[in-house]
Amino acid sequence: MASLAFLLPGGFIFLSFFFISADAATKFYQFNIQVNNVSRLCHAKPIVTVNGRFPGPTVYAREGDSVQINVTNHAQYNMSIHWHGLKQFRNGWADGPAYITQCPIQSGSSYMYSFNVTGQRGTLWWHAHILWLRATVYGAIVIMPKPGTPYPFPRPAREETLVFGEWWHADVEEVVKQGNSLGLPPNMSDAHTINGKPGPLFPCSEKHTFAMEVEQGKTYLLRIINTALNDELFFAIAGHNLTVVEIDAVYTKPFMTSAILIAPGQTTNVLVHANQMPGRYFMAVRPFIDAPIPIDNKTATSIFQYRGIPNSVLPTLPHLPSPNDTSFALSYNQKLKSLNTPTFPAIVPLKVDRNLFFTVGLGMNPCPSCVNGTRLTASLNNITFVMPEIGLLEAHYFNTKGVFRTDFPDKPPTPFNYTGAPLTANLGTTKGTRLVKLTFNSTVELVIQDTNLLTVESHPFHLHGYNFFVVGTGIGNFDHNKDPAKYNLIDPPERNTVGVPTGGWTAIRFTANNPGVWFFHCHLELHTGWGLKTAFVVENGKQADQTVLPPPKDLPQC
Ligand code: C2O
Repeated sequence: MASLAFLLPGGFIFLSFFFISADAATKFYQFNIQVNNVSRLCHAKPIVTVNGRFPGPTVYAREGDSVQINVTNHAQYNMSIHWHGLKQFRNGWADGPAYITQCPIQSGSSYMYSFNVTGQRGTLWWHAHILWLRATVYGAIVIMPKPGTPYPFPRPAREETLVFGEWWHADVEEVVKQGNSLGLPPNMSDAHTINGKPGPLFPCSEKHTFAMEVEQGKTYLLRIINTALNDELFFAIAGHNLTVVEIDAVYTKPFMTSAILIAPGQTTNVLVHANQMPGRYFMAVRPFIDAPIPIDNKTATSIFQYRGIPNSVLPTLPHLPSPNDTSFALSYNQKLKSLNTPTFPAIVPLKVDRNLFFTVGLGMNPCPSCVNGTRLTASLNNITFVMPEIGLLEAHYFNTKGVFRTDFPDKPPTPFNYTGAPLTANLGTTKGTRLVKLTFNSTVELVIQDTNLLTVESHPFHLHGYNFFVVGTGIGNFDHNKDPAKYNLIDPPERNTVGVPTGGWTAIRFTANNPGVWFFHCHLELHTGWGLKTAFVVENGKQADQTVLPPPKDLPQC
C-alpha cells in the first residue's frame, strides 16, 4: 500500500478510501539517501535527496499502525532521520537525532526505523537530523485517524500538503563551514519554497511553481509544514480566509484568520473554502522577524487555481502581515487553543513536581582567526552544549560513564534583568554535555526566557519524545509571583515546538512519562549549531512497560 503513495502523489483520496476498512497495519518504506542534480533559480546543483525526490516522499500511516522505514545511505555524508513530533514511546532508538539517540548511518549502511503510531493523528514531518542536511532532506508525515473516527470538522473535498522550505544556490554544507570559520552566521538562503518550488517572484520559475486546483464552493484541508532552517513564516492566500483546525498533530478550537504564523518545526492544518470569484490567487510565504537582525523579505508563492481558469490570468498577491508585525504574531498565538473535548481531551498537568527556568543566551567567544576576532555562540543557562561522540541514549541504556553529566542547572546561575538594556558581556558561559534528569512520571514546568544577551530574538524550541502544553507566554521578564496566575490550564495549545517571543518568555508543561533521552533545542539550525540545546534523561518507571526498549540489532555504531 505504501508504494501507491509513491506512484500516485496526488492520489491521496484514493489512498484514504483504500485504508478505510483496514485494521492496524504495518506500513513499509524504503528511503534511499542519494545525490541528485536539481535546478532552481536558473542554477542546477547536486543535492542530497530521499529516493531522488525533493521534497522527499510523504509517509502515510493511520493511527495505530506500525511503520518501518529502512534508510539506506548512498550519499557521502553520514545521515540520520528524525520523525519530528512522533512520540516514540520507550523507543528513542527510532527518534533519529545524530549523537543523541543514535550514531549516524554511515555511507553505504542501512538502518531500519521501526515505530508505532499511537495516540496521534494529523500532520507531522521528517527530516535529516545531522549538520544542515535537512535543507534538502525532508518530507511530510500524514497520520489519518483510526477507521471510523471522523475529523472533528467537516470532511474536506480534498487534502493538500504544503511544505515550506529554504533554498541555497551553493552547497549548504559549504555555506555552513564558511560561516563557522568566519565566526559569522552562514549566508542567508536565496529563496523560500513551497513544495520545493519558489514560484514566479523568483527567476527561472516557469517549471518551479506549485499550483493547486480547486472547485468553487468546495472546502479543502491544507496540511502546512515549516521545514525552513532559520525562518519563522507568515502564510496567506489572496482573497481567502483560513480556518485553523490542528497544530503539530493536535486538534484545536477552530478559528478563522487572514494569515497564519508558523515556526520551523511546526505544522498547521487549515480549512479553506473556495468561495471567491473563480480565478487564480497566490498562496504566499514570507518571513516574520521582529528582532534587530537583517530582515529577509523574499516571498515564495504558489497558486490556488480555480478549475477552468487559464494560466494566462495573473494571480493577485495576498496581504501578508509585515515582516516585523509583532502584534499579529502575539495575537495569532493567543488564539491557539486545544480542542479539549471528551474524545480529544487536554490533559494539562495541574500540579508541578519540578520547576525549570532556562535562559536563552547568544554570545561571542574570542576567535583570533575569525573576521571580527570573535565567533558567535549560544547557550542555555550559560551552558553551550557540546555534542558527544557516541549516542547519548546508548550511553544511558548501557550506563556508560563519562559521556554526559546530569547536572544541567534548573535555573540560571545568577538572576539578572534578562530583557533589559542590550547585554554584551559574556556571563561566564561554560561548555559541556550536561543533561536534565527527570523522574519517571514527574510533572515538569519549564519557562524558557529570551534574553538581551547580544540580541533578543524569537526562538522556536522543540522537545523530542513529547507533546507539551503551552500554558503561558509574555513579553519581558517572567514574574514567578504574578505570571502563573494568568496561565491557561484549561485548553492551552498542545504541541511539540513553540516559539518563545522576542524579548519574552514561554511556559510549557508536560508529564515525563516517556523514558529515554530526549533532545531539546532551538529549531533554528543556526542556533542549534551554536549550542542552543540540551537533552532530558527521563528515568525508567518501576513497571516493565515503563522502561526503555532494548536497542535494535542494526543500531548504527559510531
Ligand atoms: Cu525537527 Cu530535533 O528536530
